[in-house]
Amino acid sequence: MLQEDVFKKLVAHCKEYGFVFQSSEIYDGLSAVYDYAQNGVELKNNIKKYWWDSMILLHENIVGIDSAIFMHPTIWKASGHVDAFNDPLIDNKDSKKRYRADVLIEEQLAKYEDKIGKEIEKARKRFGETFDEKQFRETNGRVLEYQLKWDELQARFVKALNDSNLDELKQIIIDQEIVCPVSGTRNWTDVRQFNLMFSTEMGSTADGALKIYLRPETAQGIFVNYLNVQKTGRMKIPFGIAQIGKAFRNEIVARQFIFRMREFEQMELQFFVRPGTELEWFQKWKQTRMNWHQALGFGSDNYRFHEHDKLAHYANAAVDVEYRFPFGFKEVEGIHSRTDFDLSQHQQFSGKKITYFDPELNESYVPFVVETSIGVDRMFLQIMAASYAEEEIVSEDGKKDMRVVLRLPAPLAPVKLAVLPLMKKDGLAEKAREIIDDLKFDFNCQYDEKDSIGKRYRRQDAIGTPFCVTVDHQSMEDNTVTIRYRDTMLQDRVAIAELKNIIAGEVSMKKLFAKL
Ligand code: GAP
Repeated sequence: MLQEDVFKKLVAHCKEYGFVFQSSEIYDGLSAVYDYAQNGVELKNNIKKYWWDSMILLHENIVGIDSAIFMHPTIWKASGHVDAFNDPLIDNKDSKKRYRADVLIEEQLAKYEDKIGKEIEKARKRFGETFDEKQFRETNGRVLEYQLKWDELQARFVKALNDSNLDELKQIIIDQEIVCPVSGTRNWTDVRQFNLMFSTEMGSTADGALKIYLRPETAQGIFVNYLNVQKTGRMKIPFGIAQIGKAFRNEIVARQFIFRMREFEQMELQFFVRPGTELEWFQKWKQTRMNWHQALGFGSDNYRFHEHDKLAHYANAAVDVEYRFPFGFKEVEGIHSRTDFDLSQHQQFSGKKITYFDPELNESYVPFVVETSIGVDRMFLQIMAASYAEEEIVSEDGKKDMRVVLRLPAPLAPVKLAVLPLMKKDGLAEKAREIIDDLKFDFNCQYDEKDSIGKRYRRQDAIGTPFCVTVDHQSMEDNTVTIRYRDTMLQDRVAIAELKNIIAGEVSMKKLFAKL
């Protein structure tokens, strides 16, 4: 199946099985804004718990906060967002469609990568086991030609970004003969900068309303509270402050479902360190975060680091954790060494001293910060993409059938167990309810008595429920049930009294934390 088709199916699945709905759907939707449905919100909460507990429970020197979305507008001046949180925009004059100039060029780079990938795949098929990819890359004429084009374009692109040279970005688009995907023409406007922050007004106009911004990142709420937390929590450097919360960006290219949204959620850690030690901590956090991702068991080949060519105005090192989505390797998380930029700026703009007194060094300084920043929604999409599978199976009557299964890590699954009475009568329904009553405070359980058992299994597979428990006539006699495992579809007969232990062992976050 084409990767594009996989993605379409995934989006349809999210709607059909109550994970994600388009916001304001009955009014034809609001672009790049989405609502989480009954199963989606459970998965999202579990992702947040996995992140939060991995920060707060596993690190004695990390605490959490929940700061307000609205903040004093000068914060955004100090942080550089008012002046520099921009995307370079270009319009096609024929289609009237607007694009990010940098994204158009990145897509062109990806085309060269694709061409190289295709040559390699062809050769791999031709040469079989004797194929040496490294040698092929170094000697094949076509691959070398595409690689040279990629290298030249990349170097020119990075220089244009670093110089903030908008004319050069446009010239690259023209020289590369990039066309508008809608009109197919190269009739482009000049490239302009566009600020991504949403603004609103606080207070009535009669009183002189204050223009304020919806935060584009949660990080600034941590920076302006760092000294309050340090003092009240008696924190000693190195220490971290974690936060989960909404962020808002007026994204121009809002595509790929929940990958790029206008309202989204971030999970951010600001880790405060001694000046001069930040690059060491940056390396540590890089590895810690990669381990966190890979503990989910989706295959280490599907992750990679991407070093930034152009550093944000606040960073002296930056790397992305990328995952292989159906539409290619894309960023899930950013790890940045933000220097003392933010704290120094807030010190300057607020006029308040926000230095830390280091008792070991007996001196005061503005701490340096290493940040890890991940989008909840993007992580959600990554997990859904990694878990979605279509499989051919043999049904109970021996016929070939298909099932869609979400192979979600059990600790993240929205529903942990479904209890299914084989039939409603003979007390089986009541017995099933008794099991749920006993387990519902430990796990999210679902009761289902409608349709054949096969259909009920399919429904639970489609939402990723790791365990289905079936109550039958034997259960009435000996208090045993069958437990069916989602991934293998194997079934065991177990005592009802054992269920709690069997399930707890698999769905506990401890199972993931043990791998960190
Ligand atoms: N405080 C640093 C910061 O905000 P970022 O790289 O702009 O850095 C961090 O964003 C993460 O937030 C990204 O890796 C991504 O997962 C998520 N994110 C950013 N913009 C997003 C958007 N428009 N929609 C969904 N997630 C987004």
